[in-house]
Amino acid sequence: MKLNIAVLPGDGIGPEITKQSVKVLKAIAERFDHKFLFEEAVVGAAAIYKTKNPLPETTIELCKKSDAVLFGAIGDPKYDSNPSAKVRPEQGLLKLRKDLGLFANIRPVRAFERLIKHSPLRPERIEGADMVIYRELTGGIYFGKKTLSEDAQVASDLCVYSAEEITRMAHLAFKAAQKRRKKVTLVDKANVLETSRLWRRTVKKIAEDYPEVEVDFLYVDNAAMQMIINPKQFDVILTENMFGDIISDEASVIGGSIGLLASASVGKEYALFEPIHGSYPQAAGKGIANPIASILSAAMLLEHFNLLEEASAIQTAVDKSLEMNICTSDISKESSYSTEKVGTIIESLILNNEDFKIN
Ligand code: IPM
Ligand code: MN
Repeated sequence: MKLNIAVLPGDGIGPEITKQSVKVLKAIAERFDHKFLFEEAVVGAAAIYKTKNPLPETTIELCKKSDAVLFGAIGDPKYDSNPSAKVRPEQGLLKLRKDLGLFANIRPVRAFERLIKHSPLRPERIEGADMVIYRELTGGIYFGKKTLSEDAQVASDLCVYSAEEITRMAHLAFKAAQKRRKKVTLVDKANVLETSRLWRRTVKKIAEDYPEVEVDFLYVDNAAMQMIINPKQFDVILTENMFGDIISDEASVIGGSIGLLASASVGKEYALFEPIHGSYPQAAGKGIANPIASILSAAMLLEHFNLLEEASAIQTAVDKSLEMNICTSDISKESSYSTEKVGTIIESLILNNEDFKIN
C-alpha cells in the first residue's frame, strides 16, 4: 500500500518522539513491502516562531492532501506563563481538528502486564483493565464563544452541543462496543448541565439501535473516582470534549505512564494520530521522553487503513521491549534508556534483527 503521511512534529518533545514513530513506520514499510512517504510541516509554537501563525495555510494544505497525519505534541512554557497572549500554540491543534473535521478522538487505555508494578494504583485493581475513551473533539466548551470584559475582570466560555454532533459520536462508540465487551458508559454532568441532558437523551435513543450493548450513565465527578477505584468496569467510555480530556489523563495512570497512551482523531474525510500527552518542555532535547505513545499512535494509523498485521507487529514489538525492561525513565528509574534507543530497539524487533545491541 502507498500512503502519504503528513508529519507535524510540533513543540517540546514532539520532534524527538515523532522521529521514532516515523522510523518504526519505515521499518513496517520495509518488512511488509509498503510505500510510506513522509512530508513535514510546522504547527504550534514552532509555527508561530516561523510564521507568526500556529497553523499556517501550507500545513493545512499538506494535511488535506495526505492520507493521514502523524502529530507530535503542542505547547510552549512561554505561552503558559502569559495567559493574555492572543496567539497561542494550542490554537494550531484546535483549528487543525476543526478544519479537518476530526470530531472523534479515540484513546485506548490498558494495563500493560509488565508495567503493573509501576502504576501508583494497586495491581489487583488495574490488572486486566482495558477500556477505550471516545472523546468528542470538535465541540463543547473548547469551541463555544469566548468573552472577556473590557476591564478583563469577567470571562466566559460557552458550552454548546447539537444532537447531531452527539449522534455521530455515539454511533462510533456503540459500534466499537459491539466489537468489544458490549458496554458503553456515558460520562456527563446531567444533574447540572443542559448540554449533558441533551447527551443523555440522545444517547438513550441511539442505544435502542444496539440492544446487545449495555449502557451506563455516570456523572463525571463519580467517573473520576471510579476510574481509580474500579477501572475494570469500563469498556467504552463516551464523553464530551472537556470531560474526555480530563479523564483520559487520569486514565493514563492505569497504564503506568502517560507516555504510553496513543490516540486517533477521525472524521468523515481525514484522520490524525497523536499521543495523548503534551509537549513536556522540561524534557525537550534531553532524549528522555517516552516515544511509545507516538509509536502506538503510528500503529493506530496502520489499523485505520486496515493494515492489521502491521499494526500488531508494532504492538508486539512494544510489548517485547517493555518485557525486556527497555524503557525510558518515566516508567523505570532502574532501566532508563534514551528516546532514540527505545525507538531503535522497537525498530529492530519489527525487522526481526535478532542481533541488535541493547547497550
Ligand atoms: C489533548 C491536549 C489538547 C486538548 C491541548 C494541547 C489543546 O491536552 O490532546 O488532550 O486539550 O485537547
Ligand atoms: Mn489533554
